[in-house]
Amino acid sequence: MLIRRPDDIPSSEITPEGLYQNRRAFIGTAGTLALGALVAPANMGAAERQKDDITPEKDATTYNNFYEFGTSKEDPAENAKDFRATPWTVNVEGLVKNPRPYDINELLGRLTVYDRTYRMRCVEAWSMVIPWQGIQLRDIINRVEPLPSAKFVEFTTLFDPRRMPGQRSAVLPWPYKEALRMDEAMHPLTLFATGMYGKPLPNQNGAPLRLVVPWKYGFKGIKSIVKIRFTEAMPNTTWADANPREYGFYANVNPAVDHPRWSQAKERRIGEFLKRNTLPFNGYADQVASLYAGMDLRKFY
Ligand code: MTE
Repeated sequence: MLIRRPDDIPSSEITPEGLYQNRRAFIGTAGTLALGALVAPANMGAAERQKDDITPEKDATTYNNFYEFGTSKEDPAENAKDFRATPWTVNVEGLVKNPRPYDINELLGRLTVYDRTYRMRCVEAWSMVIPWQGIQLRDIINRVEPLPSAKFVEFTTLFDPRRMPGQRSAVLPWPYKEALRMDEAMHPLTLFATGMYGKPLPNQNGAPLRLVVPWKYGFKGIKSIVKIRFTEAMPNTTWADANPREYGFYANVNPAVDHPRWSQAKERRIGEFLKRNTLPFNGYADQVASLYAGMDLRKFY
């Protein structure tokens, strides 16, 4: 299921397996030619015209946030080693034509798998560049047919404290939940990732299925999803529930709005020494800023 190559993906959109290490990332072009936008548009200042080398796979798979497997960065790789992500069922619920459980293969089967290398920015002010393989969430949404009244889509992580030892302590209100507005979920940049670096998604990165929204802080990227629910009202989300002053629903990367306890103006790219400037919408503004036209992004953070 991982890297299918249907005839309708131009070969220019497919990165051969094994070419990820040390390769320069053509972010926003490889796999997304239709979306345009090079890494550094010509009108960017020198400070913004930065290289985006792919983060070493070792860093992306050993420096993780996945509190279900512990709160230290190295915990998930260690504690998720024996997690089994097969078989896997995703419950599709709420305002949808036919709410029911889907086996993951049925939910994703025959949908196009894209290669997308994205900058990823954590709210803790570090970042990585990760070559994902995944399905556009909009293709999945179209498959399950939400009702016109659906305005939001909510995602829930597996709750199973026997398999996810971090859930035995109350560091977060379990299960982990996240949500998107429908137009955000339907945006072609938004993926359900099933792989990275040309391999199936490692457990610590959210196997078998996790959300990837490159213009938002990493905590929106909910891992190991077992439920998709369509709603009319804005759903609660885990981090905003746990600490509403510090984490909002939108979580768009915004260097102009600091976290109450630290600045968001710069970031440390894992593997680099000097800090970089953080870009509005994580550098994807030309593709997504219009979703928020007229909104006060200080209020809707
Ligand atoms: N999803 C779940 N279920 N539990 C988590 O603790 N952490 C989030 C997000 N998804 C988290 C989660 C945070 S804070 C970040 S930065 C990203 O996962 C990290 O993803 P990565 O480990 O693949 O880099």
